[in-house]
Parts: sequence; C-alpha cells; structure tokens
Amino acid sequence: MDAKDMGRDLEKVLVTEEEINARLAELGARIDADYAGRDLLIVGVLKGAVMVMADLARVLHSPVSMDWMAVSSYGAGTTSSGVVRILKDLETDIKDRDVLIVEDVIDSGLTLSWLVGNLKSRGPSSVEVCTMVRKPLAFDVDLDVKYIGFDLPNEFIVGYGLDYAEKYRNLPFIGTLAPHVYEE
Ligand code: PRP
Repeated sequence: MDAKDMGRDLEKVLVTEEEINARLAELGARIDADYAGRDLLIVGVLKGAVMVMADLARVLHSPVSMDWMAVSSYGAGTTSSGVVRILKDLETDIKDRDVLIVEDVIDSGLTLSWLVGNLKSRGPSSVEVCTMVRKPLAFDVDLDVKYIGFDLPNEFIVGYGLDYAEKYRNLPFIGTLAPHVYEE
C-alpha cells in the first residue's frame, strides 16, 4: 500500500520510506558496532514492531536471534495505563543474554518502562531499547532509549507498523490520516 492507494485518506507524510531506510542503516551500523562479537537477541513487541524488526534485522551484519512478545496495556481508551499484561511471552531464556527491545513507537513510555523492568528481572547481561518513533510524552518517563529513529510531535500517526483501528500498518511511510477517516 502506498500514498496513491490512500487517496484522500492521507493527510500528510511525516517520514518517507527513504528517510526510514536511511535512518535504519545508521541505527544498524551503530548496533553492529556496539554488539560486535556478542550474541544479540532482538525482541520485537507485537504487532507494531513487525516492520522495524524485519527491516532492522536485514541491515545488521551479524546473525542475531529474534523473538517476540505481545503485551496489552490495561485501561480504557487510547492511552496506556502502565499496567501491562503479557499476552505472548518470549520463548528464549534471556539469562546472561544481550537483549535489544525493538518498538515502533514510544508514546507515554509506560509500556516500555514496564517491559524493561520485566526483562531485567530475568537476569540478562544487558537490556537496551530501539524505537522507530518517540513521542514527546515519553520524555517525562525515566526511560533510557539508546536507539531512536525519529522524534515526532504528539499527533496520531499511522504506517510502518502503526495502526488506526488495526489498519494502515502496511504503509511503507509514517503519516497522518485525514480527519474524515476518524469520523466514518
Ligand atoms: C503501541 C506500541 C507500544 C505502545 C506504546 O502498541 O507498539 O507497544 O503502544 O505506548 P506507550 O508508550 O504509551 O505505552 P499498541 O498497544 O498500540 O499495540 P500494537 O503494537 O499491537 O499496535
């Protein structure tokens, strides 16, 4: 799916496919250097991280292991409460492993701060975070995010794994939807 397929449902493109790929190449080079000679496990947080996991894994030059978690935030509406339930846990024992959590977006930061704490309690050698997008609310949370694709303003965004009502994850860019989409 691309901008043409979106027609008038697309308001604007915030980050193009080319910009995403260029940034992934930079992040990949840093991750390769930081984990040189180590046995890295990258952990994607379903479902949003599917795109960034697939693309990041392919720019890395070492044979990383990949695993997945699915978590759900308790609480009504679109904001996270910080109370998280594990829907799908890792299949990997991460004791003494180097773990890199991969996310599509950090919004309030509550999901990730819970997840980092949860994974750290399992005795890994290290836990770091890579996210394609960080929103400004996340600045208020004490969360050390080592690899950040783009800092974007606090608007509702879709594409590259990010959804509106489970749709638009398959856009190759990140953008905003025209207001009429939300009204339908
Ligand atoms: C998104 C995103 C993060 C979380 C970030 O997932 O992938 O996991 O929200 O929000 P926070 O920083 O405010 O806690 P979502 O719950 O929308 O699920 P999805 O990945 O399946 O779309």
